[in-house]
Amino acid sequence: MTQKILLTGGLGYIGSHTYVELIAAGYDVVIVDNLSNSKLSVCDRLAKITGQETSFIQADILDRSALSQIFAKDAFDAVIHFAGLKAVGESVEKPLDYMQVNVTGLVNILQEMQTANVNALVFSSSATVYDVSNVSPLKEGMPTGYTNPYGYTKLVCEQILAQATHANPELKTGILRYFNPAGAHSSGLIGEDPRDIPNNLMPYISRVASGEYEFVRIWGDDYPTPDGTGVRDYIHVDDLATGHVSSLHALLDKGESHLVNLGRGQGYSVMDVLNAYSRACGRELPHQILPRRAGDIAQMYADVEQAKQVLGFEVCRDMDAMCATSWNWINTGAKDG
Ligand code: NAD
Ligand code: UFG
Repeated sequence: MTQKILLTGGLGYIGSHTYVELIAAGYDVVIVDNLSNSKLSVCDRLAKITGQETSFIQADILDRSALSQIFAKDAFDAVIHFAGLKAVGESVEKPLDYMQVNVTGLVNILQEMQTANVNALVFSSSATVYDVSNVSPLKEGMPTGYTNPYGYTKLVCEQILAQATHANPELKTGILRYFNPAGAHSSGLIGEDPRDIPNNLMPYISRVASGEYEFVRIWGDDYPTPDGTGVRDYIHVDDLATGHVSSLHALLDKGESHLVNLGRGQGYSVMDVLNAYSRACGRELPHQILPRRAGDIAQMYADVEQAKQVLGFEVCRDMDAMCATSWNWINTGAKDG
């Protein structure tokens, strides 16, 4: 029988790409999203990509009665939980909002799952839970820590999941620590579309490529890295999406909980990303070197052995593919949505 998945935050950047992969893998999927950081038009775009109607419920994960109704109406086999707040800077200004949505939201989902006897959950964690003193490649067993309220909420959520699975051995969880998601679906119909000035590198570069901003601001070129700019592990969002299908498979078919990094296992510098984007859009993008950004570290990339061993997961797309699909999205889909 077809397995049914509840996808919270499924109209957002990572959730929408994961939806496409889940449909391709034969799952029946219901999306719940409150549209606080996404658009309703994504539903139609997902329908165009998948060739089937999108099953969507507009609801907030903080609304317990709405959640109860959702869990009462359908018998879900698993939940993939993307809904949450993710802006590091904003989390410093509004820490309580982050605790409420990210932490209380997860507890609400877990309690509803318990009532409905749903025993598999995939959770969106982040490489931000690694203590900044760790040296890359980052391995799952390394010490954790946090430097801002957003990171704190992800760490607390991981700890809540550990306690919940300890108390209920039936419950299986896939904790996925994402590195830096980038790129867009090859159709150009879905991608990352931040509402405010982007804080992250790739969406900022894409707006320089589209002519919206004049130049890329490079936060520091005096790091102990090959070219002096910060190094991160960028992973194509479609690869990240297939990682969720692998995680579901491990939970539902093998009954195995896991905590794994999802990255490429390779670092790219800011200059590497800028050069790749310049190739993708066909012109050299202007940049300026500015002082380091507070809180940034020199380099960070994943050890991907666990993902390979436990999930059989490996990426298939490189930085050129991330930039080409991002540019295709910015140039086409993002304009008329
Ligand atoms: P996103 O903002 O594009 O997607 C999140 C979705 O959740 C949005 O559609 C939003 O409308 C919805 N949402 C927010 N609050 C909600 C609520 N209270 N009730 C219902 N829906 C709600 O973000 P994303 O980049 O797709 O990230 C998804 C998850 O992955 C988040 O939990 C984020 O913390 C995590 N993550 C993201 C990154 C990244 O760099 N993008 C890195 C690591 C982890
Ligand atoms: N950078 C620039 N200019 C910009 C933006 C970024 O030079 O305009 C540099 C940064 O200094 C860093 C690199 O590009 O060296 C990547 O920065 P991002 O802001 O894109 O990503 P971060 O690695 O800082 O943060 C991301 C997510 C966080 C998450 C963290 C760890 O945004 O939510 O990865 O997983 F916590």
